[in-house]
Amino acid sequence: MATDFTGETAADAVADSFAKAPDPRLAELLSSLVRHLHAFVRETGPTIAEWQRAIDFLTATGQKCDHERQEFILLSDVLGISTLVETINNRKTSGATESTVLGPFHMIESPRRELGESIDFVGTGTPCVVRGRVLSADGAPLPGADLDVWQANDQGFYDVQQPGVQPRANGRGLFTADAEGAFWFRTVVPSHYPVPTDGPVGQILLATGRHPYRPAHIHFIVTASGHRSLTTHIFVAGSPYIESDAVFAVKKSLVKEFTPVDDPGQAARYGLTGPFCLADFDIIMQPAAAG
Ligand code: BEZ
Ligand code: FE
Repeated sequence: MATDFTGETAADAVADSFAKAPDPRLAELLSSLVRHLHAFVRETGPTIAEWQRAIDFLTATGQKCDHERQEFILLSDVLGISTLVETINNRKTSGATESTVLGPFHMIESPRRELGESIDFVGTGTPCVVRGRVLSADGAPLPGADLDVWQANDQGFYDVQQPGVQPRANGRGLFTADAEGAFWFRTVVPSHYPVPTDGPVGQILLATGRHPYRPAHIHFIVTASGHRSLTTHIFVAGSPYIESDAVFAVKKSLVKEFTPVDDPGQAARYGLTGPFCLADFDIIMQPAAAG
């Protein structure tokens, strides 16, 4: 006998159709997805034209993707899903440094640099020193920890967005913490910048009156033997959009003061000749076995 689907029974019927999938996790994910999608459709009652519009949007999102552009990740970002997935998967032990999203601009390998070297090869913008220590949860220093850092310049562009304008690997560096777990490097204070808006995700932001900006930040991936890898940023306190990041990735603990310093003695210690900003970022790593 044919099944008589109704708005109420369809979700169960489709969810149950996945229940016997050989992979139980796949069965769970698809059943739950179907139930939530059906609930969304029952709640909002889209017209046929609206549903077609949604399909056209997803089609355009896929068509915008290539080896350099991932519009689906950007969609996940602006819907807050990337931050949610990242947060669920990195529930931290108390006191550990919070993680946040990777973003799409970790596209090229960061060149290895000596502690204290500059990652800025353009020379515009406010000079800045970022320094800190990499520590385990019990406060022990983690000598030899690696810190991969990358950032936009003072105009809000990553090197890969401006080939021929910025030198390749500008704003990037791979540093190794010293015997006390300490690190420091020179750079310029980054600017806030917009996520890419020339695709379907940009159209959604425009249509909904949302701005596309991320507050100024510096990305880090920190690795230390015996510890979980940490992907995070520091955000420049007082940056525009710190309260309204387009990808919902700001965590209060990651907002750092970039304190102006006008002291020739201090500047000389970091190989600088004039005023600069100083940002402190101590990083507490989680043991590999935790959560
Ligand atoms: C970024 O910080 O590089 C980024 C993150 C999500 C979307 C776009 C850019
Ligand atoms: Fe970024």
